[in-house]
This record gives sequence, C-alpha cells and structure tokens, in this order.
Amino acid sequence: MTAVKTELLDLAQQAMSKAYVPYSKFSVGAVIETSNGHHFSGCNVENAAYPEGTCAEAGAIAAMVLAGETQIKDIYVTGQGEQLVTPCGGCRQKIREFASADTMIHICGPQGVRKSMTMEELLPFSFGPENLAS
Ligand code: THU
Repeated sequence: MTAVKTELLDLAQQAMSKAYVPYSKFSVGAVIETSNGHHFSGCNVENAAYPEGTCAEAGAIAAMVLAGETQIKDIYVTGQGEQLVTPCGGCRQKIREFASADTMIHICGPQGVRKSMTMEELLPFSFGPENLAS
C-alpha cells in the first residue's frame, strides 16, 4: 500500500475548508496524487438547484484533467462526522475512469486516514474504458 503522506492530509483539510455547502452544510475535501507526483484538490460546490451541485472528487478530477494528467495514484477524501465519507456512486465511476490496479482510495477524518481501499474494493466488477476498447 502507498505510504500516507501528512502533506496530503493537510491539503485535503484545506480543500474541505473551501467547500461551498449552504444547503447540506456537509463539507468534503479531496486531493489526488497522480502517478507523476502532482497534487490536485477539490471541494464540494452546491447549488440552489440541488442536483446540480458537484462533489469534491469531481472538482479534483477536473483540475487534474485540466492540467493534462489522467492517472490517479492515490485519492484522499475527507469529511465530517463519525461515518466514513466514502465517494458516492457517481464519484466511484469518475475515479474509476482514471484509476489503475495500484490506485488507492483513502477515507480520512480530522485525525488522519480512517480506511484505505483499492479501486476494486470501492467499485467491484466495474465498467471502464477497457470495456469499450474491444
Ligand atoms: N459529497 C462529496 O462531495 N463527496 C462525497 O464523497 C460524498 C458527498 C458532497 C455532496 C454534497 O455537497 C454533500 O456532500 C452532501 O451530500
């Protein structure tokens, strides 16, 4: 498993502090480390038309793609409360698009990483780009 980096936990907390969540009041931060070692952050951004809000993971993925990168090595997701803030179903698929067998998803809280898992554990039997390649 990839070693957890304190720097990435700090970046995730910083991203979470920027969340725009006037409706749910539930802040989430996400940070991607790419296979090139670069970091991209995102926070959730809600909207008065509720379904149009975007998740923290989606923001981080958009920033990564904008920078010309497409390989997620690790993604750190942090949020509030006692429960694990695991990526929603839609975000699992969004992460999957840019994941490999080595990709690790780290679910964090204020104290650090609470659970780490592979892409296969987070989204078993997933459909991905390879399905369209044959
Ligand atoms: N949310 C995320 O940003 N990422 C997750 O992994 C779970 C949920 C957001 C969406 C919404 O703004 C708020 O958390 C409550 O669902």
